[in-house]
Amino acid sequence: MIIQALKWIGGTDGFLELIDQRRLPAEFVKLQCRDTEALFEAIKTLAVRGAPAIGVSAAYGLVLAMQKLNPSDGLEQGLKVLAKSSQYLASARPTAANLFWALERVRRNAEEFVAGQPEATVQKLREVVLAEANAIYREDVDMCRRIGQNGERFIKEDAGILTHCNAGALATAGEGTALSVMFEAHKNGKKFRVYADETRPLLQGARLTAWELKQAEIDVTVICDNMAAYLMKQGRVDAVITGADRIAANGDTANKIGTYSLSILAREHGIPFYIAAPSSTFDLSIKSGAEIPIEQRSADEVAFFGDIRTVPEGVDIYNPAFDITEARDITAIITERGVIEKPNAGSISGHLR
Ligand code: MRU
Repeated sequence: MIIQALKWIGGTDGFLELIDQRRLPAEFVKLQCRDTEALFEAIKTLAVRGAPAIGVSAAYGLVLAMQKLNPSDGLEQGLKVLAKSSQYLASARPTAANLFWALERVRRNAEEFVAGQPEATVQKLREVVLAEANAIYREDVDMCRRIGQNGERFIKEDAGILTHCNAGALATAGEGTALSVMFEAHKNGKKFRVYADETRPLLQGARLTAWELKQAEIDVTVICDNMAAYLMKQGRVDAVITGADRIAANGDTANKIGTYSLSILAREHGIPFYIAAPSSTFDLSIKSGAEIPIEQRSADEVAFFGDIRTVPEGVDIYNPAFDITEARDITAIITERGVIEKPNAGSISGHLR
């Protein structure tokens, strides 16, 4: 693995160490989260970001929450802390499905443990929570690897690949989703060029994707978001590959704001458009993209470029962090289980069964 975005250090009394992504690429700084409040802040302010990475971090957040228990506390109190802390951590960001998926999985596993072993100690419950968080971490690493292997064939020799935001190692516990496909193609000796949209307003493409690809020695060129159509017109883009934050039952996909416009541009230019995401990003409880909650972020992210105000004071700003790409514009979804061509409700439920 090239970059480790997050790492649990120690046992049940340990802490979560993150690469502080707010400071890349200027500084490579690690951040230690020793309580749920610190982790909540890290998720909210994008020190840790990307749907899978948020999910894995939140699972470890529940290990942190359990550290507040007293040895004399019973299992019921342990489950109460888990329920309350899950709610709290889930409120950090509303769009990425992996956050809710991971919290729910850890909590349900703890409940099953308590139901099966009602005489166990609270320390044993803490160990169960840590073991489940570790399992989620390991599975994420494995899912990323498989996504890379399953999607590699979509990168042809000498191709130009356009990606948006960052769906790399920084966004997961493993090697990423969309970028894992690129890392795998690179490993297999293919030559190709990646165009990384800079991804306004927080520049995850310019700051993070370009940083990762450069380290992997993959040919990468950063473009402003509004240049994609021109590159497509010039014939420089052979495929678009992005990650996802939540995929509805019908295949509509939430990803970083700007992904939707890329999907329309790709359709117009006859360019295949791929989404790479693990099964933990699917939310079959919702029918279509219209039901996916879209995070609205601070106006300051748009009003300032670094420390410089670029929008006049008093002017309204709208800053949705994600948009929805319609399933009909997605050529295929690449998961750890394989590839869903022309995704729709039937093919998705069959794939995930
Ligand atoms: O706001 P962010 O940086 O968390 O948004 C991240 C994305 O949109 C990614 O493309 C998505 O989470 C997939 S990460 C494998």
